[in-house]
Amino acid sequence: MNVIEVIRTKRDGGRLSNEQIGWVVDAYTRGVVADEQMSALAMAILLRGMDAAETAAWTRAMIDSGERLDLSALRRPTVDKHSTGGVGDKITLLLAPLVATCGAAVPQLSGRGLGHTGGTLDKLESIPGWRARLSTAEILAQLRDVGAVVCAPTEGLAPADRKLYALRDVTGTVESVPLIASSIMSKKIAEGASGLVLDVKVGSGAFMKTTEQARELAEALLAIGRAEGMRVTAVLSDMSVPLGTAVGNALEVAEAVDVLRGGGPADVVELTLVLAREMLAVAGIDGPDPATVLASGAAYETWCRMIRGQGGDPDAPLPAATRVHEVRADRDGVLAGFDAYAVGLAAWRLGAGRARKEDAVAAAAGVRCLAEPGEPVVVGRPLLELHTDDPDTVPAALDALRGAVLIGAVPIDDGAPVRGPLVLDVLR
Ligand code: URA
Repeated sequence: MNVIEVIRTKRDGGRLSNEQIGWVVDAYTRGVVADEQMSALAMAILLRGMDAAETAAWTRAMIDSGERLDLSALRRPTVDKHSTGGVGDKITLLLAPLVATCGAAVPQLSGRGLGHTGGTLDKLESIPGWRARLSTAEILAQLRDVGAVVCAPTEGLAPADRKLYALRDVTGTVESVPLIASSIMSKKIAEGASGLVLDVKVGSGAFMKTTEQARELAEALLAIGRAEGMRVTAVLSDMSVPLGTAVGNALEVAEAVDVLRGGGPADVVELTLVLAREMLAVAGIDGPDPATVLASGAAYETWCRMIRGQGGDPDAPLPAATRVHEVRADRDGVLAGFDAYAVGLAAWRLGAGRARKEDAVAAAAGVRCLAEPGEPVVVGRPLLELHTDDPDTVPAALDALRGAVLIGAVPIDDGAPVRGPLVLDVLR
């Protein structure tokens, strides 16, 4: 095989054969194909696309670059969830213990945040003592004993994707549907669960800004899952305003715990229950409704065991910011919402996120929304809290929020809803 031939084929709009794809992904992982050659190929793919068969072959090659977890010894059905990333998206924290309490085993190998969207591992690391890195034996033991594990992927899982994703990140080649879909699905399939529910986010705070783009990504993800014999469902959900009221690592853990203890914002509860029901359906579990299980407090008990299982103390106080700056309404009206991207960017600038992979995140930093879309507000009413340990970050966060607080005139036209539906579609 000749890598230049492979690049030229795609550059000129041709199809890559399964053999070419298998060879180039393997050769890149082994260092035989150089970074500059793979970046040229990734750019050709971004510009020319890959069809469903090419994308399936690309995914398979990335799975085959490493190990696949064997969950067959577990006596429960295995099911996972993947979110394409949003602002205030703490759903994994609740969903894993909830679905485990309903009878499934939930292996949730998660990532860290990069840019304006947060990462599940960063959130959980705000819990004193909690450890993200587990061995394969520890993952299996926790799935057997607790039913849910949220941790970092093991080194051996889809190493081709790890290398390629880092390269795409610095070569402007992230935004390709076949490359995103194969990247996500290679990790999820290698993780070994037999069912998967995808939460594909749509809106300013998401990768996919329009429903059409989100649907295209969802279809690509579903096609790969089905080709691999996985039971998969995709939920399209709104990410034009932040999910819940908390954005930032420790703030989001606190909100997730509120929901597990029977409180919390309505949208977080709604999306958790929608995804939990879909996960149980793909797992073939026909037990009590997740709403009943959530209300019983049993999922909170599972959460505590899940956190303790990884060295964390679920009863320890979470880190709190030393500075809290309020943003107030500058006029009377009805709050239409806060723009998700702007709030995510503000939280990131306050220290909740990282600019480079090796940066640390500030556990206590973030944004709390104090009013809900649809609420009437008067000038001077506090609407947002900016949490940080570093007051120098506040001006840049305020800058990010310019124009992000959307206040409409009163009354709103004919009582029209200010926020559209949270769940836009479910593709099964
Ligand atoms: N998340 C992934 O895991 N891969 C991508 O390519 C984009 C988002």
